[in-house]
Amino acid sequence: MTQIPRAGVIGNPIAHSLSPKLHSYWLNRYGLEGSYTALKVTEDELEKTLRELPSQGFIGANVTIPHKVNVMQFADQITDRATLIGAANTLIFKDDGRIFADNTDGYGFMANLRQGAPDWNPKAGPAAIFGAGGAARAIIVALADAGVPEIIISNRTRPKAEALRDDFGARISVIDWVQADKMLEDANTVINTTSLGMVGGQDFKVPLDNLRKDAVVTDIVYNPLKTPFLMAAEKRGCITVDGLGMLLHQGVPGFERWFGKRPEVDEATRQAVLS
Ligand code: ATR
Repeated sequence: MTQIPRAGVIGNPIAHSLSPKLHSYWLNRYGLEGSYTALKVTEDELEKTLRELPSQGFIGANVTIPHKVNVMQFADQITDRATLIGAANTLIFKDDGRIFADNTDGYGFMANLRQGAPDWNPKAGPAAIFGAGGAARAIIVALADAGVPEIIISNRTRPKAEALRDDFGARISVIDWVQADKMLEDANTVINTTSLGMVGGQDFKVPLDNLRKDAVVTDIVYNPLKTPFLMAAEKRGCITVDGLGMLLHQGVPGFERWFGKRPEVDEATRQAVLS
């Protein structure tokens, strides 16, 4: 008897992850045999869990906070983009026991932006990024890859933005957090990668008066879907793209590798995850 392929998302906390809903919806939509569950795993348990999962029928997993960086040390093969980002969010367990690690966050970011703003031209001008955490890293790699000529970063903790500049080179400049609004003057792509604006969290307070009306503006926060940052940008006439699509699109490469079908990210997918 062949085992039903299993996949899941490894993290801690994990109860609020939307990934089980997403992958279960896709499995159901395409009539595929398989399962996808949330796996609460502490840092101490990470290695043991990774070694045990294949024998329990797991063919792969997504990885989320706090394991995205740590998981790299247990991987036998790592994609170039995961190496560059220094973190992985998608694992494939090979038949011979080896672990293959990829990072699809940048892909998810870019696919979401292209879907939500089809006329967006990465080469048209600088991108301005609020934040310098793990998500910013993946997004910078993706933007540079897409040909964005200049990337300006502003982060509350300036040395973290400078570290990104040191890692990713000449195309990047850093602006102090108290002057963050200055980077909006020329930017035709503007991205919030901080947690500001999330339900229950602190507000995004950087003034947006310098935001260009022809800028494409996106947020990685998706709860609420329309953050105050996106609302303010929309009011100025900018094209805005919410952050839910990044989460949905980052799941595509993993699902395709595990279950053999490239899934669609469309309105029905969004509704399934939001229901
Ligand atoms: P992720 O992996 O989602 O990027 P992270 O690595 O914890 O998460 O990064 C969170 C980002 O939100 C950081 O840029 C953080 O700024 P600091 O580097 O100064 O911590 C930013 N952030 C979180 N809370 C913030 C706040 N109250 N004001 C400004 N920036 C904040």
